[in-house]
Amino acid sequence: ELYNFRQIGPDTKVHGVIGNPIGHSKSPHLYNTAFRSAGFNGIYLPLLVDSVANFFNTYSSPDFVGYSYTIPHKEAGLKCCDEVDPIAKAIGAISCMVRKPSDGKLIGYNVDYLGAIGAIEEALGGSNGSSNGAVSPLASKLFVVIGAGGAGKALAYGGKEKGARVVVANRTYEKAKELASKVDGEAITLADLDDFHPEDGMILANTTSVGMKPKTDATPISKKALNRYSLVFDAIYTPKWTRLLQEAQDSGAKVVFGTEMFINQAFVQFERFTGMPAPKELIRETLAKNT
Ligand code: ATR
Repeated sequence: ELYNFRQIGPDTKVHGVIGNPIGHSKSPHLYNTAFRSAGFNGIYLPLLVDSVANFFNTYSSPDFVGYSYTIPHKEAGLKCCDEVDPIAKAIGAISCMVRKPSDGKLIGYNVDYLGAIGAIEEALGGSNGSSNGAVSPLASKLFVVIGAGGAGKALAYGGKEKGARVVVANRTYEKAKELASKVDGEAITLADLDDFHPEDGMILANTTSVGMKPKTDATPISKKALNRYSLVFDAIYTPKWTRLLQEAQDSGAKVVFGTEMFINQAFVQFERFTGMPAPKELIRETLAKNT
């Protein structure tokens, strides 16, 4: 069962995911299962919202202590925060909101990038994205981000935060340039990517929809150019094995699946909501069963 209403009491912490559509969202099942398993007195509801501003004007009960944001409300959500984390502000979108217990203010965060960056760090070995002060395995690596939309921004800021040297490769050069300047990085076009090989051992992250179902024969970079990369991440998760990841694996690179981004994101959000360590195995299993 999704919610156990008999357990709701005055101390129950209420959470929700704001989106439209929302019926397909796996988050309510995931977080309710994880809350229960961790012994956390909380529930998590799907919230079908047309206008985020109207929702907060008419329905923002202080009993709601945490929200997740999904399509298409990540930008609008940012405007409804009392305070915004600097990285979320720079990205221009939030993925979750947490109410500060001390004064009831709603603080917006973007943890999307932490999910992807955490998965990449884990695959590289070393720090797993938690801020334990250890040097990131991404530090000083050349980190090529394909795409300059919401996800591209998140990855580029995340890479910079971890000390990587960021390169933004985008179809539209102007957008690459704008983003690259914000992360002290370099801008190239998608067309430049095949001849871009300043060094070996680079890290690649695709954040565009190139290769997504149903056009699964598409890939943003030629197979030959993949030789220079030691790790390739694809934000696409349908299919799991994109052509990019297949060719990366054939070239001997490590691969990181798009689903890893969601799993790691869930760890981070769980910890933000509950202040407790995430039940990682349970979250992994619950997501695996429902995808
Ligand atoms: P998201 O929030 O998921 O990142 P977005 O903001 O719509 O989505 O950004 C989409 C990104 O994918 C952009 O970088 C876009 O390139 P442009 O800036 O040139 O539009 C890129 N993209 C989308 N479709 C593409 C395609 N067929 N070929 C190359 N790049 C593509």
